[in-house]
Amino acid sequence: MANEISEKINSGEMPPRDYILLHPEAVLSTAEKRSLIDGLRATLGGR
Ligand code: HEM
Repeated sequence: MANEISEKINSGEMPPRDYILLHPEAVLSTAEKRSLIDGLRATLGGR
């Protein structure tokens, strides 16, 4: 589960491009992506 979600974040599939056009603050830096993924793994388990 955490791995699938991480893939969406790393590939740039999520957040969606159209959403980012309306909400530029949703763009995540590399560090923010890493924090989000670390949190997902801590919460949901997985590598
Ligand atoms: C970093 C933030 C986000 C993460 C980690 C995330 C993650 C995901 C994941 C894991 C799925 C399931 C995809 C699948 O079943 O293959 C999904 C689907 C979806 N997400 Fe996100 N999401 C994020 C932000 C957003 C935002 C901001 C929106 C729009 C307001 C959005 C709209 C959708 C929609 C409409 C779907 C279902 C349709 C689709 O698969 O494209 N997501 N998201």
